[in-house]
Amino acid sequence: MKRIFLIYGSTEGQTEKIAEVISDVLRERGHDVTMLDVKEAGDGILEGYDGVVVGASIHVGKHDRHIVDFVRRHQDALARTASAFFSVSLAAHGDRPEAESYIEQFEQETGWMPAKVALFSGALLYTQYGFVKRLLMKKIAGDKPGELGTDTSRDYVYTEWDGVRRFAEDFASQLEESAAPG
Ligand SMILES: Cc1cc2nc3c(=O)[nH]c(=O)nc-3n(C[C@H](O)[C@H](O)[C@H](O)COP(=O)(O)O)c2cc1C
Repeated sequence: MKRIFLIYGSTEGQTEKIAEVISDVLRERGHDVTMLDVKEAGDGILEGYDGVVVGASIHVGKHDRHIVDFVRRHQDALARTASAFFSVSLAAHGDRPEAESYIEQFEQETGWMPAKVALFSGALLYTQYGFVKRLLMKKIAGDKPGELGTDTSRDYVYTEWDGVRRFAEDFASQLEESAAPG
């Protein structure tokens, strides 16, 4: 059994849902997972974990700023621990170069070069957005015809859950192998 710390930054809740699926997979494999919303993380020290998973969503071209701060503060511990990062955006659904550019920017901003990175597609939750956000997101989606939905009476979830589960399985395997004797 490995001790794994899973921290995420989410505004509308999709990254949190993804973190929950990752946590379930890791727990099913017998690991001890501490999952935390970065907004509740405080100033504690990141010590005593065998693995760390960090996740953040993108808004207006930037990763969650609480996660950026957290990673900056815990750079040394992250560099010493097996770690992985997942980024959640709409660009990951059909505009991979854009989604990759967010990762480059994140690495430059934080100084952390995660050994394992995943880009997950997020969601358009029109029914949960307020008036202004709904209009803005409809406009953005309309600029990418065919890729993103524009019917504001419903939500669109683009996350590929199999890919999320695979990411968690791969990370678990990597940690388990590091414990193998010899
Ligand atoms: C106001 C707003 C701005 C966004 N800006 C971007 C963006 O610049 N690039 C992008 O790829 N996705 C963008 N998104 C899409 C989010 O990354 C996507 O909705 C994701 O699922 C949000 O995750 P969260 O619910 O965990 O915060 C934006 C979403 C909203 C609501």
